[in-house]
Amino acid sequence: MSRIVKGFNLFIVCCVLTFSIFPQTQSRNRVAGTAAAQCSPVAPRAAEVRAAGDEAYMKFRGDTGGKNADYIPVLAKVDPKLFGIGIISTDNQTYSRGDVQYFFSIQSISKVFTLALALNELGPDAVFQKIGSEATGRPFNSVEAVADMPTHTGNPMVNAGAIATVSLISGTADEKWNKILAFYSQAAGEKLTMLDDVYKSEAATNQGNRALAALLVKYNRIYADPEESVDVYTKQCSVGVNTKQLAMMGATLANNGVNPATGVRVIKAENIPYILAAMSTAGLYDSSGAWAWHVGLPAKSGVGGGIVAVAPGKGAVAAFAPPLDEAGNSVKAQKAIKYVEQKLDYDVFSPRSVGLGAGALPARARRAHRPGLLRCLERRSTIRPLRF
Ligand code: DON
Repeated sequence: MSRIVKGFNLFIVCCVLTFSIFPQTQSRNRVAGTAAAQCSPVAPRAAEVRAAGDEAYMKFRGDTGGKNADYIPVLAKVDPKLFGIGIISTDNQTYSRGDVQYFFSIQSISKVFTLALALNELGPDAVFQKIGSEATGRPFNSVEAVADMPTHTGNPMVNAGAIATVSLISGTADEKWNKILAFYSQAAGEKLTMLDDVYKSEAATNQGNRALAALLVKYNRIYADPEESVDVYTKQCSVGVNTKQLAMMGATLANNGVNPATGVRVIKAENIPYILAAMSTAGLYDSSGAWAWHVGLPAKSGVGGGIVAVAPGKGAVAAFAPPLDEAGNSVKAQKAIKYVEQKLDYDVFSPRSVGLGAGALPARARRAHRPGLLRCLERRSTIRPLRF
């Protein structure tokens, strides 16, 4: 009985402290540029992040597996040795190593953020009904999937579903594009621009995507002009990001839609689970099942060589290296993210990711699982750490 009373008292203390530490952070849209670093109850410690990132970088930087994408001619020319890792926590601790300033095209990772914009505008029910969320089990540009799947669009992560998602955004083609670019920039916390050479190279060779859009017309599953939708989609895929910016875009998802550096609410909090569900189902296309099995983090890849993985409430890991596997996912980025995930115990399917069973872990990992509220309190100089 006394344990119950003690437990209840502890709960009350935690509630009072939580409300006084995080006043209105959930509901208020904050202004760009304001200091925003919130204290996340589950964000990892800087030293652990640094160790995991450094080890991953050293372990995989010499890996030569995979091959640059070449169906978009300009991508074949990117230096295959480029390699960068960026990790950003929800309380805006940042780590980066390698070629993290290099601008590469975001490619399919863009699909995540256009989905987020569509959800902001239309809400989850409409997006689910108009696009769907089933894995195709096929390559990202599969024509067969469009013909075979009952929804035809499949999900927002494959090309057909992503082009249809672009078509859902309100406004003229120019308005859509401007909105999309501004939205991505807010998620990254910095102004992003399109890489002209990538856009030109892809626009000259995107007959496959135009065929997908035309097929969607047949099934009544595209909601604006198909050619215009493909053009806006091609532009969004050509947006340049560096690894740090990509990590920040992922950290915005991890932080429930609020950019951890600027404090701006970019994505409605209620939409985050749908976005992460879509990433988990199809973020790495026909190897999404293997990724869920081995890594257990919602993630999205792009043929430019980037991958971003999201640990909800904790942060994001981004990696960039151009050579890809058969499914179109960066070989080195997958290895690096998997390594970091395992070191930090990020697997969302594992109860250990929230500290359950952490007693069996080595001391360093156990420290990472210390109740988050206590760690938050300790980091605030004005508040004395509580000892229970
Ligand atoms: O539409 C395409 O084919 C490219 N712009 C994007 C494909 C892509 O990134 C697939 N990702 N792994």
